[in-house]
Amino acid sequence: MDDLVLEVKNLTSWYRVTDDRGRRHDKTVLRDVSFTLRRGEILGLVGESGTGKTTLVKNVLGLVKTNMGEIIHYTKRPQMIFQDPYSSLNPAYTVGWILEEPLRIYGKYDAAERRRRVEEIAEKVGLPAECLARKPNGLSGGQRQRVSIGVALIQKPRLIIADEPVSALDVTIQRQILELMRSVRDELGISFLFISHDLNVVYQLCDRVMVMKDGRIVEENTVPELFEHPREPYTRELLSAAD
Ligand SMILES: Nc1ncnc2c1ncn2[C@@H]1O[C@H](COP(=O)(O)OP(=O)(O)O)[C@@H](O)[C@H]1O
Ligand SMILES: [Mg+2]
Repeated sequence: MDDLVLEVKNLTSWYRVTDDRGRRHDKTVLRDVSFTLRRGEILGLVGESGTGKTTLVKNVLGLVKTNMGEIIHYTKRPQMIFQDPYSSLNPAYTVGWILEEPLRIYGKYDAAERRRRVEEIAEKVGLPAECLARKPNGLSGGQRQRVSIGVALIQKPRLIIADEPVSALDVTIQRQILELMRSVRDELGISFLFISHDLNVVYQLCDRVMVMKDGRIVEENTVPELFEHPREPYTRELLSAAD
């Protein structure tokens, strides 16, 4: 279908690990995972810590190659937003420099045009102009996550993968960052694969959600359906833990 941005078909993935006695074996983490992601859709992936969410992201990005199945990108490379705004931004440089970096690398614009684009993006992600001259450690956690979103957006992605992007933030700031992601989707039609261990967060943001348990998608539905009529006992467990 022509409005797909990403398709994963029957993905099984493993790590090669060495046990206490020095023996190597394969540890299977993802089991027969299939899903599609459409243009402008915010798809949630929820599940407990250790279930394989980040491993799925690494497979989609091509960082884990011990796998079987198919991963089809219908658009250019996705952009990433990570959990920890304290370590994902280079502390040595100003926010303005960090936002400008992708434009310098791709080399298409002169300095004045790069500056203009940086200011435009800063405004779009709700960063006050005075933040541009500061380094990341001069910003709050929420502001740093706005910078991460800005770095992603300045590269004009069709898909953003956000792995636990609000887990390190307190609830009020979480809500603001979720609102920002939603407005990015609404205004620019960007798709999101949004990963969280927290169903409350998924409920606030996502259109559709997949529930992962032990590396399998055990249930998948629209957010209203999943929250009103969870089918799997595991989903009900997660729901009752969430409120
Ligand atoms: N590089 C690795 N080598 C071996 N095992 C790994 C590696 N990375 C993750 N794992 C294991 O894979 C499982 C899934 O991890 P992960 O994908 O990080 O889960 P989640 O993001 O849902 O918390 C865990 O048991 C974890 O210990
Ligand atoms: Mg993870």
